[in-house]
Amino acid sequence: SEVGLDEESYERGEHRHFMIKEIREQPAAVARALTGRLDTRFHTAHLGGLNLDPREARAVRRVKIIGCGSAYYAGQIGAQLIEELTRIPADAEPASEFRYRNPVVSPDTLYVAVSQSGETYDTLTAVQELQRKGGRVLGLVNVVGSAIARQCDGGIYLHAGPEQSVASTKAYTSMTVAFALLALYLGRIRDLSPDAGRRIANGLKALPGQIERILAQEDRIKEVAGALAEYRSAFFVGRVRGYPVAREGAQKLKEISYIHAEAYPGSELKHGPLALICPERPTVAIVPDDELLAKNLTTLGEIRARHGRILAVAHTAPGPALADDVILVPKNEPELDPILLSVPLQLLAYHAALALGHDIDKPRNLAKSVTVE
Ligand code: AGP
Repeated sequence: SEVGLDEESYERGEHRHFMIKEIREQPAAVARALTGRLDTRFHTAHLGGLNLDPREARAVRRVKIIGCGSAYYAGQIGAQLIEELTRIPADAEPASEFRYRNPVVSPDTLYVAVSQSGETYDTLTAVQELQRKGGRVLGLVNVVGSAIARQCDGGIYLHAGPEQSVASTKAYTSMTVAFALLALYLGRIRDLSPDAGRRIANGLKALPGQIERILAQEDRIKEVAGALAEYRSAFFVGRVRGYPVAREGAQKLKEISYIHAEAYPGSELKHGPLALICPERPTVAIVPDDELLAKNLTTLGEIRARHGRILAVAHTAPGPALADDVILVPKNEPELDPILLSVPLQLLAYHAALALGHDIDKPRNLAKSVTVE
């Protein structure tokens, strides 16, 4: 097929679960999402299906992203990428909420619906409501020819390949990559310089190899996950770029390990949740080497002072005084770092669920795609 998938891709092969197979397929999935889409002459992205000419793209004053669950968290990463690279105000909202609040729909806003299955009812109805009010909606969708893909006015296929596990991994990562491509394209139409475009394009090209390096740490992550599985509740913290990563990490852990997990911006801890920090409730902290590093390290100190255990997912080890365990992630460009920081959290959730003996591909109470209200 167009994206190089064969029959074998539909089977578990030597992998114990679809989820781990799909986690391990991410270098290839990301490479497919990028194939033919990076322009080395103008340092921009080629996105043939957008149906948006440069003049229309320039007229966009706002970007609004809608999706559900992990697609919404990918959308939060996408909104930050778009705002950083284009300086167009962008935000993400759960499609399930959006469609019930009589949203203001404006002709100079670009709406983006994100969905792996392309069949999520809340997202589909939000798209229809937007179009009924005259909104232009792009789809970031994995399943070709799905209801959302057909309904949208244009879009980007993820080319992640079939995803069977209820817990989304490779499709989620491919969504964040597709958003980076969209941000690069919109940015280069505006004021993102050729040099900055080249920096982002090179960062994107490095992703598959860097994901391989994270996957090579599976044994180490499995050990840490075994320790995490002993707890009944965990916090995930991150700031700005790290916050949606924390939310998706908590989501993955909840879905398949059934360990209660909550994500907070690190900056919000002292406004309430710090009261719950104690030795029985570990924290997974997202600690990228960016302009917020010092602030993140202060947060680790605050948690440590309350005797909370800390697992840091970081570019540089914060040191034993600030973290009990560390998973190191390769550094990319700051705007693209969230794409990589999510990957070890998938392995963490998988191995915690495995240690607890749960039905990983079909977690209780959940369906792969929610096609009802
Ligand atoms: C992801 O792990 C979840 N199972 C779930 O949140 C999912 O992302 C959500 O239901 C949206 O699905 P979609 O991408 O197919 O629209």
